[in-house]
Amino acid sequence: MDWRTYYRDHLTTAEEAVQRIQSGNRVIIGHACTDPGVLVDAMVANADAYRDVEIFHMLPMGKAPYTAPGMEPHFRHISGFAGGSTRKAIAEGRADLAPVFFSRYPDYVRNQVQPDVAMIHVSTPDEHGYCSYSLAVDYTKAGAESAKVVLAQVNPQMPRILGDSAIHVTEMDAIIEVDYPIVELPPPVISEVEAKIGANCASLVKDGDTLQLGIGAIPDAVLAELGDFNDLGIHSEMFSDGVVDLIEKGVVNNQRKTIHRGQSVYTFLMGTRKLYDYVHDNPAVWGGPVDYVNNPLIIAQNDNLVSINSCIQVDLQGQVVSSSVGLRQISGIGGQADFIRGAAMSKGGRSILAFPSTAKGGQASKVVPFIDQGAAVSTSREDVQYIVTEYGIADLKGQPLKERAKRLIAIAHPNFRDELTAEAQRRYG
Ligand code: COA
Repeated sequence: MDWRTYYRDHLTTAEEAVQRIQSGNRVIIGHACTDPGVLVDAMVANADAYRDVEIFHMLPMGKAPYTAPGMEPHFRHISGFAGGSTRKAIAEGRADLAPVFFSRYPDYVRNQVQPDVAMIHVSTPDEHGYCSYSLAVDYTKAGAESAKVVLAQVNPQMPRILGDSAIHVTEMDAIIEVDYPIVELPPPVISEVEAKIGANCASLVKDGDTLQLGIGAIPDAVLAELGDFNDLGIHSEMFSDGVVDLIEKGVVNNQRKTIHRGQSVYTFLMGTRKLYDYVHDNPAVWGGPVDYVNNPLIIAQNDNLVSINSCIQVDLQGQVVSSSVGLRQISGIGGQADFIRGAAMSKGGRSILAFPSTAKGGQASKVVPFIDQGAAVSTSREDVQYIVTEYGIADLKGQPLKERAKRLIAIAHPNFRDELTAEAQRRYG
């Protein structure tokens, strides 16, 4: 059958589409900016028809209404990354978190989740009937490929992005057409402290490096310092508007990359319309599943891979906490460990964890003698390399414990150095 006929035959409304969900089903939802809001709202409006539906969604950029108080008999959300809309529900026990490396997420989806239904938000079909997973290929592609039923929200405002990122309309069981702006993440305002951190990180970058940039203000602060560099490349779990600025300046051209030469590689994207317009139908951008992009063995095929991420706490041994404050879940591990391990195996590779020296308005040091009770270690002391604050750079790679403590104290906030030194002396003499 011609794909256009198939497409027309499967067009329906969101209210009809969510009738395909049954009590007890496992539903996987497209990641980040591909959150299929119209389908999600229709499912939640139909909540009385369901009991015990499990919702798997890594980072919802929508309101995650299935986690609202009162939804407990109908939905249980299993998150892969706590975000603004789900932190409270996780803290209050209405939702839970499954700690999984992002690179292993497709395997987790296929083999543990085994979804009954996938709800996705994709671009309009091309002339061959292929839609793009667009701003989130990551686990979303594995979710749709392994679900028994695929409900798709097709939006002409969703960019078409090239790579291993396509789904044919004949793989969709119900299709709804929408036309509304894609959720945007405006660039953060960079503080003075963050600008200093950005400059310290930039001093570890060289012309020709390939960069991975994590989430939060620090990566943007680093990008802002790279305007005079040459021939940088991008192989990153995600990127945002800051990278487009450097591409437009000719700083990022991907010409010295050792794989995907000439292309910026991503698994999901978050930014503004400026980013979405840049990536649309652009052969210089390649999107693929997260078990490829974040696979440490693939990352390592990029020579001079520099990963730059942030964290919440680091103890005097170099153990890094990135996703929780004590037991309070703030985010998830994302691709931090994937890229730190990939960078360690990359020829000339380097990994950086960068953060302001204090939190809570200067009341708490982020360099601590002991990580908070209940906190989860995201990066082990064996994996850690450069730690960067506004006070400088601590190279911990291969360093013995006493030397690590000394280097970390030197980049801690001066207000906390005496108590950190007293602890280091008590411990190591
Ligand atoms: N003690 C107490 N609270 C702390 C803290 C500390 N040491 N460090 C951070 N916090 C709190 C902040 O006050 C803030 O709380 P609020 O939301 O109530 O204001 C919250 O934790 C988030 O901190 P912030 O510094 O604003 O976060 P960010 O947006 O810069 O992101 C991470 C930082 C670490 C959370 C983020 O980089 C992350 O999730 N990393 C792990 C995943 C990852 O690295 N992925 C890589 C590829 S994307």
